[in-house]
Amino acid sequence: MQVIILPSTHDVALYAADRVVDVINTKTNPVLGLATGSTPIALYEELVARYQAKQVSFRQVISFNLDEYIGITDSHEQSYRTFMNQHLFDHIDIAKSNTHVPLAESKDAIVLKKSAQDYEASIQQAGGIDLQILGIGLNGHIGFNEPTSSFASRTRIKTLSESTVAANKRFFKAGEYQPQLALTMGIGSILDSRAVLLMATGKAKAEAVKAMIEGPLSAMCPASALQLHEATTIVLDEDAASLLA
Ligand code: F6R
Repeated sequence: MQVIILPSTHDVALYAADRVVDVINTKTNPVLGLATGSTPIALYEELVARYQAKQVSFRQVISFNLDEYIGITDSHEQSYRTFMNQHLFDHIDIAKSNTHVPLAESKDAIVLKKSAQDYEASIQQAGGIDLQILGIGLNGHIGFNEPTSSFASRTRIKTLSESTVAANKRFFKAGEYQPQLALTMGIGSILDSRAVLLMATGKAKAEAVKAMIEGPLSAMCPASALQLHEATTIVLDEDAASLLA
């Protein structure tokens, strides 16, 4: 595990963009693992800027997102598919058919289980993920692998923890239905990626970051599983790194 501490959130986004562009420019059929949430927004803005400046093309890129809420449509304002379209896919030359976000609209457990298995199979068929981008939850989750998730878990249905539902409430209008379940890649699926880049910014993340890097391997901090992955880079701003020894 390599830990990089940079002065600002902007520097974190630039570093991550350099890594993504490097994968795109060095692999024949680059496969990216992507995340949603506030943290990677600056990365996606930077990638769009580099595309507009003709520094990178996404024509050959295949992408797989980590997770999706269960029970809302793809076109729902708060779906992660909508998030990805708005922040990245609509502004670059990626083929939409090459972009994958778990299909989680159904509320039927059998349909969702099949969808999860198909998602794992699609990742395999694409040749596996070259670079997985991650954020980290306040409780140490990666994807929607909440505390107590098995390090061997694969794509599956997960119940969101109270702290995650509370943290994501800000994205939903007052009174709007907020999903409590998600379809998420597992920790085992994430660890299969050839390289992992976790971005964390801001003081609120400092405790989770410390537990991930300095804490014991523990299912109570799912991100600590990244200690097992040799090609993991953790890129932090000074606030997120502020509790590190
Ligand atoms: C998003 C995801 C989550 C977020 C995490 C941090 O696809 O999988 O693990 O990365 O909840 O979210 P932000 O960046 O909003 O603090």
